[in-house]
Amino acid sequence: MLVLGIESTCDETAASVVRDGQQILSNVIASQIALHRPYGGVYPELASRSHINSLTPVLELALSQAKVSKQDIDLISVAKGPGLIGSLLIGLNAAKALSLAWEKPFVGVNHVEAHLYAAMMGQTPPRFPALGVVLSGGHTFLVLIEALGTYKLIGTTVDDAIGEAFDKVAIMLGLPYPGGPAIEQLALKGDPSKHKFKAGSVKERPLDFSFSGLKTNVFYMIHGQNGKDTSQNLLSGQDKADIAASFQYTAFSDVIKKSVIAAKQWRCKAIYLGGGVSNNKALRALFSSEAAGLPLYWPSFGLSLDNAAMIAGLGFHVFERNGRQGDSLSLEPETRIPLTS
Ligand code: KG4
Ligand code: ZN
Repeated sequence: MLVLGIESTCDETAASVVRDGQQILSNVIASQIALHRPYGGVYPELASRSHINSLTPVLELALSQAKVSKQDIDLISVAKGPGLIGSLLIGLNAAKALSLAWEKPFVGVNHVEAHLYAAMMGQTPPRFPALGVVLSGGHTFLVLIEALGTYKLIGTTVDDAIGEAFDKVAIMLGLPYPGGPAIEQLALKGDPSKHKFKAGSVKERPLDFSFSGLKTNVFYMIHGQNGKDTSQNLLSGQDKADIAASFQYTAFSDVIKKSVIAAKQWRCKAIYLGGGVSNNKALRALFSSEAAGLPLYWPSFGLSLDNAAMIAGLGFHVFERNGRQGDSLSLEPETRIPLTS
């Protein structure tokens, strides 16, 4: 079954053709990074307009790179949320229009579930029960995966998502958007043990996350205890690298410690990771050394950050589990969707 995937939840316009939920024939991504960089973050209205301009060429490229035509497509899969409402509307309406014009079914899938599915693509059959770890710009959680589509939330953030904390710390250090990759690069030159920052804990919820205190640690390290002493401009390049490395190490150690506890507690056979932050090589190395022998599965190249291959791949399974029934044209985008719904 050939599935055309469409992703437009935030600031990437993406389309992909995937066979039977596994074999990626094309994976086209138009990034809007340059557009949003002057604002230090995603500017929602600009994102929607850019999706409008990019979607048709991206779709055409996805079909041509896969060497298929519209007649070959069996199903259209689109990310229906969570995400920015304007951005979601563009992708969802495009999927509905193609579904009508091509007379093919379409399904709306959960973008966050797709991030978890990304680590299962191109792998041997997944091992369940497994722990899913989503680390993205909008989400941070641990989830028990009993089967594809059956999830139980184990831990989540009570404030910032981990990627959001990376982006905000990057701004404090004067680094460009997106902050995660910039911090990863800078941290390579820094000493992760230089500053003893503290990851947040949540009372009586040991597997939940809190990154706002860690962010505040970094703020006071840069600006002094009264918040006014120094500016980031007074820090040397080495100071900034040490702060980036210590922040990154503290955030990742917290994620890894809680993931390993959760995986053992729920007798998981494997850990599947996904989301933009899972692209970080320091995270992958640290997790591998501390995973206590649990098999770790990471998204392969091009599948950690937002992409449409994971949307097409998951769409295949959603269609199957709905008895090969597509969604109706009345499907609405959802800016927030619990994974467990
Ligand atoms: O999954 P994603 O592409 O979009 C969302 O669904 O949110 O994640 C984007 C987030 C951003 O916060 C970005 O700074 C972070 O992932 N990120 C990284 C890295 N690459 C992207 N964080 C740390 N290290 C990276 N290499
Ligand atoms: Zn995402």
